[in-house]
Amino acid sequence: MKIDGTPYRSVWLDPEDGWSVHIIDQTRLPWSLDVLRLTTAAEAAHAIRVMQVRGAPLIGAVAAYGLCLALRADAGTEVMEREAAMLAATRPTAVNLRWALERMLTRLRNTAPDARVAAAYDEASRIADEDVAQCEAIGRHGVGLIEQAAARRGSGPVHVLTHCNAGWLATVDWGTALAPIYLAHERGVAVHVWVDETRPRNQGAALTAWELGRHGVAHTIVADNAGGHLMQHGQVDLAIVGTDRVTRTGDVANKIGTYLKALAARDNGVPFWVALPSSTIDWRLRDGVAEIPIEERNAAEVTHATGRTADGTLATVQITAPGSAAANPAFDVTPARLVSGFITERGRCEASEAGLLSLFPEHR
Ligand code: MRU
Repeated sequence: MKIDGTPYRSVWLDPEDGWSVHIIDQTRLPWSLDVLRLTTAAEAAHAIRVMQVRGAPLIGAVAAYGLCLALRADAGTEVMEREAAMLAATRPTAVNLRWALERMLTRLRNTAPDARVAAAYDEASRIADEDVAQCEAIGRHGVGLIEQAAARRGSGPVHVLTHCNAGWLATVDWGTALAPIYLAHERGVAVHVWVDETRPRNQGAALTAWELGRHGVAHTIVADNAGGHLMQHGQVDLAIVGTDRVTRTGDVANKIGTYLKALAARDNGVPFWVALPSSTIDWRLRDGVAEIPIEERNAAEVTHATGRTADGTLATVQITAPGSAAANPAFDVTPARLVSGFITERGRCEASEAGLLSLFPEHR
């Protein structure tokens, strides 16, 4: 996608040395566009842990490149297994992280140590390139939903509500939930996005709004609690969100607050779609609420907020009563019954085991 007309990906190799890894520091957005250069697996793990990179597909791709960096230092089997486990432990909920590392290890365990670095970069680049192709396909399979909503509406823009950031910053390019929106925009369909601010880390207000704005897509940031009201008043044509893990039965883990939006959408007859690449499906799990591990993050993300003051400096301030405890579950699970359907790289389907298997019969 473009930043003020210049195409970017969210992770790329240094064009000069061909091995170090560049990322956009997402903790600095929307205030400044800082590119970081990662040279070790420990730096890649740190970037994932502190959310300089975040979003399920992107953390998978960065972990894959992190393993490449580990192998440059030592391509032996013991180090490879240890560093892969270290990278896998950085964040628990998004299954793409484990998927990408398992894919890397499957190839590398069958590769002689002296050929591992080249094989690792080849596999990591495939993971990144496939993610771009899959997200573009998600756009193609999802854009019809926006075009149909435009036809139903008759006049004025289609209003799409989204939660968190499932745009190009959360993937390698295009995004999942935002890919159909970008494609609709490219096709000239008038589209306006309601952007949930997504407390406590504000991925909507800081990241989704930034990338939509830089690409020229109309949008409005709303407080997380506004969605139900907007739906009651006919101001949301459809909701599209991303996901960090989907069970084979269609339960959806995504950023905390997604479940409440799905409940409000059901109560108001608003279609609620989930966009995902197949790397986000955990075929081993059946019951999302019981089985998907939910990341519990630092309470300081709830008690404090960072912003820019009038003189342009960044400041972190406490926004809670001193001494009050805070809890910070970072994801929730939306049961499949509340999801209108999935948008995947192979097409759209019902949010159920039968629906997923109709598109991915190899997992029967
Ligand atoms: O904690 P984050 O910012 O990594 O959470 C991201 C989300 O919840 C996204 O919606 C999800 O990863 C899908 S990204 C295409």
